[in-house]
Amino acid sequence: MMNTDETMKGQGEGPLEGKTVVLGVTGSIAVYKSLDVASKLTQQKAFVDVIMSQAAAEFVKPISFRAVTGRQVLTDMFDLNSQFSVEHVALAQAANVVVVAPATANTIAKIAAGMADNMLCCTVLATKAPVIIAPAMNVDMWDNSITQENIAKLKHRGFTIIGPGHGWLAEGRIGCGRMVDTPEIIDTIKLVLGRGGDLAGRHVVVTAGGTQEPLDPVRHISNRSSGKMGYALAEAARDRGARVTLIAAPVSLPNPVGVAVRRVSTAQDMYEAVSQAVSDADVLLMSAAVADYRPAEASSEKIKKGEAELVLKLTRTRDILDEVRGNFVRVGFAAESQDLVASAEKKLKKKDLDLIVANDISREDTGFGADMNRVVIMERGGKREDVPLMPKRQVADRILDRVTALLAKRVTG
Ligand code: CTP
Repeated sequence: MMNTDETMKGQGEGPLEGKTVVLGVTGSIAVYKSLDVASKLTQQKAFVDVIMSQAAAEFVKPISFRAVTGRQVLTDMFDLNSQFSVEHVALAQAANVVVVAPATANTIAKIAAGMADNMLCCTVLATKAPVIIAPAMNVDMWDNSITQENIAKLKHRGFTIIGPGHGWLAEGRIGCGRMVDTPEIIDTIKLVLGRGGDLAGRHVVVTAGGTQEPLDPVRHISNRSSGKMGYALAEAARDRGARVTLIAAPVSLPNPVGVAVRRVSTAQDMYEAVSQAVSDADVLLMSAAVADYRPAEASSEKIKKGEAELVLKLTRTRDILDEVRGNFVRVGFAAESQDLVASAEKKLKKKDLDLIVANDISREDTGFGADMNRVVIMERGGKREDVPLMPKRQVADRILDRVTALLAKRVTG
């Protein structure tokens, strides 16, 4: 039976929990998207303090932000009712990160010039926290060399600029000027907050998804891996400060922000990509479901049906994890439908791994494509941890806890 306490414990943790995000909102039609950003951040347990410019308040009323964040919204530096009015830099000091989304050309220019004539600019000027800017404006304003110079200046000073994206603009044209969407903003916040985390300075290589072994130009042999566990690992490693290379077999998941993604198809492609990526790696997390066999010969033409039986000859692929060795922490994954612990232990020994993560794929709640997982993490030397049912992202963090402990041991000898 599921251990509810343990499950809840796992779900409560997250990179945004307890963090103060100051969300600066300026006057653009994209303000409506910021409500979603504020809501998603709040759902992930961040404290979201919104500062709106007067122009922004023409588009969306401050009360809307108050409703989704449950916190006070500041609109003016001289608001006497605000707990922050006495010391106008209090929010700047409280912030773990400041995000200006949407950022208009006007606000970007003011920030670049070091101006402090409203609460938001004041906060940006005074904060020591990292600042993320998500521009939104007309394509010609964006292309203008003045804006481009301002952006270059902000980048040079360490601001993180995301977007703008290309697409439909409010004035009825297609062009560059759209504020990026919520997931990209949230992921960038996590990336920025993760700098200096316990994997800072480390290169983590993750594989994900199920390889596809071609039979002919339209058919392949593959498996049911969704790639979700590998993507969760890549994101968790990024959020702990690592430089992450994600080698992904075909999956229908978007590229995580701030992660170098290499798309591959066959086991052989994955072997080559992994061999190359590990040259300076500290960790290899081999969560991909690599095909053990491939068709001995792939037909260059589409195979036509006939009356006779069709017999396929399969040949073994290379075992990537077994072959790719070096001075990095090697983690394997074992998907088992019987004798979970014994089978995984055998793989740990045979491939001389540091860790193996075993999961029972016969259960419906943790099988392929599920968002939750329940695993057993086994270490070389016999140490074992049973991780109860929890979201894959939290399982990823449990695995990385073990990895960081192993990395620390290597340093201290
Ligand atoms: N693996 C690999 N290359 C392969 C096959 C598997 O690198 N050609 C990796 C997987 O990414 C995973 C681990 O090896 O981390 C799984 O071990 P394995 O013994 O191959 O497990 P299964 O493929 O499930 O094998 P079995 O059919 O023996 O259970």
